[in-house]
Amino acid sequence: MQDYHDYLDEVLITEEQLHQRIAELGAEISQDYQGRQILMICILRGGVMFLTDLIRQLTVPVAIEFMAVSSYGSGARASSGEVRITLDLNTSITDRDVIIVEDIIDSGHTLTSVIEMLQTRNPASLYVCTLLDKVQRREVEVPIRYCGFKIKDKFVFGYGLDMDEYYRNLPFIGTVDLERYDPNL
Ligand code: IMP
Ligand code: MG
Repeated sequence: MQDYHDYLDEVLITEEQLHQRIAELGAEISQDYQGRQILMICILRGGVMFLTDLIRQLTVPVAIEFMAVSSYGSGARASSGEVRITLDLNTSITDRDVIIVEDIIDSGHTLTSVIEMLQTRNPASLYVCTLLDKVQRREVEVPIRYCGFKIKDKFVFGYGLDMDEYYRNLPFIGTVDLERYDPNL
């Protein structure tokens, strides 16, 4: 297996920048939800780091839930548009103030399906908080209330995001030089 240094193009967002922006998001969400309780739904697995750092910045009561989805018939880096729940919530979201926590929005298909599925369960409110937004790649419009960083159209990894399932543990977000990446090594 290659070491990530072999294909890391650049560190796009440093650990300090992540920490600072997530503190800002936490303050903003705490302000918006004053006097209420939040149910944060983390989409596995990429959103895990972001969720755990974000909830530590909240000053309002928050409960957490996890959900996993997979898209049909597509490669690891392409969303087909059809999404299936592989791990569902353990709790009812009816009449609750829900925030979906995502790592990155790319084409927008994944989140569109998730939002549609969750809306049928009648939450009191449902908003999206994403760490990263690859704006140029959008194929379907997704309503985003909270966004950490808008980024260019480059494949990224680290801080929850994977390179073929590895390196989610890196404390920063880096871009990949695909010319130098060889999954067979
Ligand atoms: P969408 O349905 O195209 O918006 O796909 C979103 C999902 O694709 C994210 O939740 C990620 O799991 C994955 N993804 C998209 N771009 C990247 C990337 O640059 N690095 C790692 N995963 C990505
Ligand atoms: Mg994801």
